[in-house]
Amino acid sequence: MEVDEIIRLLNQDFVREIEATMVYTRNAFIMLKCDPSRVTEAIAIDEMRHMNWLAELIVKRGGKPSMEHKELDFGGDGLEGQLMKQVELETQGIEIYKQQIAQIDDPEVVGVLKHILDEEKRHRKEFIMRIEKIRK
Ligand SMILES: [Fe+2]
Ligand SMILES: [Fe+2]
Repeated sequence: MEVDEIIRLLNQDFVREIEATMVYTRNAFIMLKCDPSRVTEAIAIDEMRHMNWLAELIVKRGGKPSMEHKELDFGGDGLEGQLMKQVELETQGIEIYKQQIAQIDDPEVVGVLKHILDEEKRHRKEFIMRIEKIRK
């Protein structure tokens, strides 16, 4: 795979991580219940770490991190809707990272993407557990 194509894919990831960081940071403040709010806040910080790792890979390959995120969807003002939106973002990330790990032939990039993928799987589980608690 050409380096420009790798940079393009990494920039798409970077933008999704920006969106997750912003959505989770905002939602953590809106959530009235302590436990989901704390979990969402902690995961927002993970997403920002992912941004930094991706930006490093992009710059190292001669690219520039893109800040062009789309309009944000926070999942509304209710706890369940917000958590469902957050699960959706994690699921989307998991699918995309899996595809990219299979496509990209740069071992350093694949190593970082695998690490991020593991964390997104854990995030997804954490959010699903909070939804199950509400529905009980
Ligand atoms: Fe992430
Ligand atoms: Fe995540």
